[in-house]
Amino acid sequence: MIYILCDEKNENEAREVSERTGGVMTDKAPCGELYLYVSDKGISINKDGLSYMGDFTAEIKRLKHNNLSHEMLIKASKMKDTALNHEKTAIDATAGMGDDSLLLAAAGFNVYMYEYNPVIYTLLKDTVKRALRDEFLSEIAGRMHVINGDSTVMMKELDFRPDVVLLDPMFPQRKKSGMIKKKFQLLQCLESPCANETEMMESGFATGAKRIIVKRPANGPLLSDRKPDYQIMGNSIRYDCYNNCLH
Ligand SMILES: C[S@@+](CC[C@H](N)C(=O)[O-])C[C@H]1O[C@@H](n2cnc3c(N)ncnc32)[C@H](O)[C@@H]1O
Repeated sequence: MIYILCDEKNENEAREVSERTGGVMTDKAPCGELYLYVSDKGISINKDGLSYMGDFTAEIKRLKHNNLSHEMLIKASKMKDTALNHEKTAIDATAGMGDDSLLLAAAGFNVYMYEYNPVIYTLLKDTVKRALRDEFLSEIAGRMHVINGDSTVMMKELDFRPDVVLLDPMFPQRKKSGMIKKKFQLLQCLESPCANETEMMESGFATGAKRIIVKRPANGPLLSDRKPDYQIMGNSIRYDCYNNCLH
């Protein structure tokens, strides 16, 4: 159950959020419960004094050209044979709060971002909306298309062939909540570990994408036990890369 609290001025938007999420409107912060707060600043998720709102402006430094090319995900998505005038497309099948999609969009991909949790979708959509108003981010955010739905199903119905599919389903073993950022503490209340890894992987391949990229903890097992063509290794995470023979 999630509650929705708002400023007087944002009641209409709060009602839309409540319909989309099944959240219950309230006029004071509920104790011990998750709630969304809809204000002029944007939509935040809150619980017991913890508060988190998506903010792509905090990532701008990473998006500048010299830094972007060093990002592991950008290395993982690089392809040799792409024509200069080709409009690159990516599917982010597990969008979450959109940090990975933001990198892909900054690298020029049109990114179709699937998020099935209506609360996370609401927070993400609001984050992209605010980024569209930022001078540096607006062009990048214009390439980010947020979709509320199950990517495992929706990837089977695509009417185009993406260049890249990114899969980052939640991994079961995460650090204890006291040690992790408040973003993850709050979002983890909403997420559950992926129950259909194999189907998700198969749907990704069925899109015909040239490259499937799977984000994993550095020492985590392979997704669906499938051996990648190559890996980009970092200290805490790695990207498993699969070249799709269907293409
Ligand atoms: C680990 S998070 C992804 C984080 C993301 N890569 C980022 O950069 O913020 C996984 C997200 O995928 C969503 N998810 C998992 N399976 C999904 C599916 N089949 N369709 C759409 N969203 C899914 C979860 O609700 C969760 O928000």
